[in-house]
Amino acid sequence: MAYGDFQNEIYNAGLAGVVPDLPMTFAELERRAEAALPPSVWSYVAGGCGDERTQQVNRTAFDHWGLMPRMLRASRDRDLSVDLFGLRLPTPLFLSPIGVIGLCTQDGHGDLAAARASAATGVPMVASTLTVDPMEDVAAAAGDTPGFFQLYCPTDPDLAASLVRRAEAAGYRGIVVTLDTWVTGWRPRDLSTANFPQLRGHCLANYLTDPVFRAGLAESPEDDPAAAVRAWARTFGRPLTWDDLGWLRGLTELPLILKGICHPEDARRAVDGGADGIYVSNHGGRQANGGIPAVDCLPEVVAAVPDTPVLFDSGIRSGSDAVKALALGATAVGVGRPYAFGAALAGTRGIVHVLRSLLAEADLTLAVDGYPTLADLGRDAIRRT
Ligand SMILES: Cc1cc2nc3c(=O)[nH]c(=O)nc-3n(C[C@H](O)[C@H](O)[C@H](O)COP(=O)(O)O)c2cc1C
Repeated sequence: MAYGDFQNEIYNAGLAGVVPDLPMTFAELERRAEAALPPSVWSYVAGGCGDERTQQVNRTAFDHWGLMPRMLRASRDRDLSVDLFGLRLPTPLFLSPIGVIGLCTQDGHGDLAAARASAATGVPMVASTLTVDPMEDVAAAAGDTPGFFQLYCPTDPDLAASLVRRAEAAGYRGIVVTLDTWVTGWRPRDLSTANFPQLRGHCLANYLTDPVFRAGLAESPEDDPAAAVRAWARTFGRPLTWDDLGWLRGLTELPLILKGICHPEDARRAVDGGADGIYVSNHGGRQANGGIPAVDCLPEVVAAVPDTPVLFDSGIRSGSDAVKALALGATAVGVGRPYAFGAALAGTRGIVHVLRSLLAEADLTLAVDGYPTLADLGRDAIRRT
């Protein structure tokens, strides 16, 4: 089935008087998620750094890129599949790591909901270090869809090695190391409510179940949860430098993907240092304000590392946004906040709805514009407007 056929399902249901109960526009999705989530979770998920300008331009920057339609290339046979680290994936989308996705569903198990949506759609999930359920359970819930583990590198190198070993044993297919979050950026919305979920003990399952982390505690986290949280705060963020890249590389034989790279020189140096993939992202504007839209950083990075897969996120809100990022050279495109909002509205079903909508729009955009396969979609397909 072509992903665009999702619209036929909706129109046909309409003939029987059924209209979608989940939003068909991002604006509506955002509005309803705000109403569904507790205010503290909403502000943590929706907010960003400073006056949130970077977050906003991540989105509006897609407006100054436009796709060039090509005619007489129509085809009912379309192919959105991509090769990534030896995997043949049915679509070019993935679920970006979202640390508090666990808190976004009504049942408080949003990581499992996301993994089940991944299983249902074939869209891989990058599971965060900060989950409500341990990474092993998240991997199991993703079924046959491959997943990736995102590492926030702790100060304790043995804990880092332990988390990576567990990810390997759980069957994750790559390690995504996030580079831009060794310290939390200045987030006025969260500061206004003095709310940082992890300090309240949320989303720490991977630490609390880790033998190395537990061995460093005087008492078990069950007996002294506050001490465990303090230990987490001490170990959370290792200020990584280029000198650490060799060590990181040596932690695993799985593909190593570095998240948060925006400068072409950093991309080149990362690949020279052994990275298998570059992940262009500015963390959705959550880490530093005053930045460049992430999508505008993408072309130079792609040009700098032409033989390396480049993943991208930050600002994807529609299928046509995803197509633009792919035309600018991304190998795969990460969906962030939209799936958190889908999770808030209807758990796994809400995330599946968000993904199917994005895929349908991407598929139909490619169909109308004359790019039946992603291989047809090169730099000539997009112009700065
Ligand atoms: C609530 C929230 C939590 C996040 N947690 C993580 C995380 O644990 N690890 C990580 O690498 N990125 C994390 N991110 C960043 C996302 O992976 C992604 O880069 C970002 O959401 C992209 O921006 P967008 O959602 O505006 O498209 C988080 C983002 C949000 C919104």
